[in-house]
Amino acid sequence: MNADRYVVVGNPVAHSLSPEIHRRFADQCKQEIVYEKQLIEPGKFGAFLETFRTEGKGMNVTVPFKQDAFAAVDSHDELAAAAGAVNTIDIRDGIARGYNTDGIGLVRDLVRRHHIQIERRKVLIIGAGGATQGVLGPLLENRPGELWIANRTRSRADDLAASLGSDSDTRIASSGLEDAPADADLVINATAAGHDRRPPEVDPDVVRGSTCYDMNYGAAATFMVWAQDEGAVSSVDGLGMLVEQAACAFTLWRGVEPVTDPVLEEVRALVEARD
Ligand code: ATR
Repeated sequence: MNADRYVVVGNPVAHSLSPEIHRRFADQCKQEIVYEKQLIEPGKFGAFLETFRTEGKGMNVTVPFKQDAFAAVDSHDELAAAAGAVNTIDIRDGIARGYNTDGIGLVRDLVRRHHIQIERRKVLIIGAGGATQGVLGPLLENRPGELWIANRTRSRADDLAASLGSDSDTRIASSGLEDAPADADLVINATAAGHDRRPPEVDPDVVRGSTCYDMNYGAAATFMVWAQDEGAVSSVDGLGMLVEQAACAFTLWRGVEPVTDPVLEEVRALVEARD
């Protein structure tokens, strides 16, 4: 029998570490799978899924197709609905079910790996794009005392904050970057700013004395480095989140939970050699 097929789709996708991660999980868990990268053109996600669902077992979806994937799947879980985005698709008997494991990945990396407390703490998230929207559900489930969204374009932060409603115990606030609070316990960078090789423009007081988390990794983790230089208590990159969201996807597909620490270590060596 042929090995089950999996794929990560994106544009660009050449730098995706997902094949490296999933092949290591598969070796560790003695699962026979084939995992490849697939570049697809904008607007072509739906057509690709229609073909792949007849031959493949699952898919990871990265930028810019997470919203397209949400629209194209046959059904989805609650976290994907809250994010309006799908990063993992499980295919059974040709039926494609969508999940979003980004937020769980972030929380596992923060809480389990780095022992960073979210509950009752003041959490500032910088950015109000898809990366932020994808993680708000699991962050709120961990009951921060306050969740503040700050974004360069203030209206996007306000809209996202308003969409969260007010039925949780968490106080919700929003602002532009210039009004980001200086007293957050945890500051998470969810902007794409690192990809221009520059951190987002926030006052150093915002990160001084705080625990900082950059959802970027490798050369794009400029916020992590800047925050450390500006006096953050600690500052970590998002490579652990990448490995944890992949582990959640792997468990959905294969029913087994990989051990992530050794895989993270190996993938970090790959990133360091590359960037
Ligand atoms: P993603 O899906 O990766 O979050 P996105 O929806 O384009 O991508 O959102 C990118 C986020 O990064 C936004 O919050 C964006 O701010 P704006 O809403 O003002 O565009 C933020 N961002 C990108 N480059 C930035 C920069 N140089 N400084 C600060 N924020 C930046």
